Amino acid sequence: KNRIRTFARTVLVTILAGGGYVVWRSYEQRHPGEQLPHDPKLPTVVVLGNGWASTAFLKELDNSGYNVVVISPRNYFLFTPLLPSVTVGTLSARSILEPTRFLTRHLKRKTEVYEGEVYEVDPEKKTVRFVDNSEIKGEVDGTEISYDYLVYAVGAENQTFGIKGVKENACFLKEVWDAEKIRTRIVDCIEAANFSGQTQEEIDRLLSFVVVGGGPTGVEYAGELHDFLMEDLGNWYPDLADRIKITLIEALPNVLPMFSKQLIDYTMSTFQENKINVQTKTMVKEVQEKKLIAQNEKKELVEYPYGLLVWATGNTARQVTKDLMNRLSSTQNSRRGLLVDEHLRLLGSDGIFALGDCTATNYAPTAQVASQQGRYLARVFSKLHKKELLLNELEQAKQVGAEPAKLDSLANAVIRASNIAPFHYSHQGSLAYIGSDKAIADLPVFQGNLAAAGLATYYFWRSAYISQLFSLRNRLLVGTDWLKTKVLGRDVSRA
Ligand code: FAD
Ligand code: NAI
Repeated sequence: KNRIRTFARTVLVTILAGGGYVVWRSYEQRHPGEQLPHDPKLPTVVVLGNGWASTAFLKELDNSGYNVVVISPRNYFLFTPLLPSVTVGTLSARSILEPTRFLTRHLKRKTEVYEGEVYEVDPEKKTVRFVDNSEIKGEVDGTEISYDYLVYAVGAENQTFGIKGVKENACFLKEVWDAEKIRTRIVDCIEAANFSGQTQEEIDRLLSFVVVGGGPTGVEYAGELHDFLMEDLGNWYPDLADRIKITLIEALPNVLPMFSKQLIDYTMSTFQENKINVQTKTMVKEVQEKKLIAQNEKKELVEYPYGLLVWATGNTARQVTKDLMNRLSSTQNSRRGLLVDEHLRLLGSDGIFALGDCTATNYAPTAQVASQQGRYLARVFSKLHKKELLLNELEQAKQVGAEPAKLDSLANAVIRASNIAPFHYSHQGSLAYIGSDKAIADLPVFQGNLAAAGLATYYFWRSAYISQLFSLRNRLLVGTDWLKTKVLGRDVSRA
């Protein structure tokens, strides 16, 4: 009896403490305090983008010594690792978005956030030009702003290799509207296949879902699509679900080249069990409205009719980044992205730091790298501010004729603050969801590598991502969506 009572008391205390924490954090989040005002004497830091790199930077930044301005075409941060789940409605889009103002309103000094697309950076004049590209515009929809420091983190855009027909006919999976478009199209294809009198050939085409690119984006999407098919579509479209075909096309001999061989084999066998047709050593050459043409291993041209085509073949530099490279062409000669030094300073420029997917470094273009770079840069800015304060103090000490010992100690402090360590990337491992409650993980342990796969890894994948979400609000929303999907299933309405 005593044991039961102690257990019940512990459970009650845990629930109350958990509830109290949620209430306190929500209150704190929704009631931001006073901020220091804009100070014209301080340097201006213009931050381009609010993706992984910029958001990690802003989250870590002590901006009491800077006026910060954030410019991005969207006014929220998107948690990309869970984006494939939005394509089938496992998660709702808003659960993985975080308005940037929720973050900047909690910074020490008032921060401007502008929803705009930067189309020109002038590294000589130290200015950026940007426009309002949204549907609703005011009388002013374009302007120029000056910076002392520029944090350049505009990410990358979808790579198409200039293949004919991709942009016109394929869906991408990078932004939240891409995922929502895919979700609508899946149901649209099924409803069209179900249309009275549809021919058998057309039904097969409409129910052919093709993914191009066997990197983690393509693999995770194929896995999510399979779950949707097995857990939901089979119930609501019993006559059609069996005819749905998922095909993944990859140019290389393997999918997921960044994972260990063991995990690639595990993924391939899981996909085989799940009847996901994987075509490796197959390179897409052209995309037409209803079919794509690819070259297989034997150099034969093969046609793949499709109802929905998702294109996930990696990244390429945005136009604004290419233009910036052209302006700095004597030092910026990589086709992959911007070249930076070990402190993330853009080569050939003054006051510009570049980070994340827009750069060409030895690291893979991942959220993990971008967020570590963002946090590192925030620490660099703290040091720069500290150095500025110490220099002022030293100047004042000299003016009032302070003792030599005091001057020495201040001069040494300035040297210490000037000594900024280079960026160091610490790899925390790679994770990917492959469908039917299975995930794969390559984790660095001690000096070696641990390859894990299956149901337990899936729970690890879930807990890792829920803990990485940037706010308590997102954690609650994602947790609730997962529960809703388990209990109520996914919605198949074409809303
Ligand atoms: P982004 O996060 O893309 O942010 C770029 C920002 O710049 C955006 O806010 C954008 O709106 C803004 N911007 C664009 N153009 C302009 C402009 N002209 N002016 C101003 N602002 C502009 N990585 C992992 O490590 N683990 C994962 O599980 C993972 N899963 C992924 C799943 C998907 C579906 C995708 C697409 C990517 C995934 N990644 C993952 C990769 C990861 O999302 C990127 O590496 C990461 O987003 C890079 O961060 P970034 O800040 O450089 O760019
Ligand atoms: P990717 O660059 O990793 O993979 C693209 C794949 O497309 C390559 O394997 C390539 O061989 C193939 N390809 C290119 N052209 C082709 C063609 N014409 N026909 C057939 N196949 C073709 O791209 P992805 O998956 O979009 O990922 C981008 C970045 O985001 C990567 O750095 C990745 O690591 C990261 N990411 C990480 C995730 C994770 O860790 N779970 C999830 C999603 C993305």
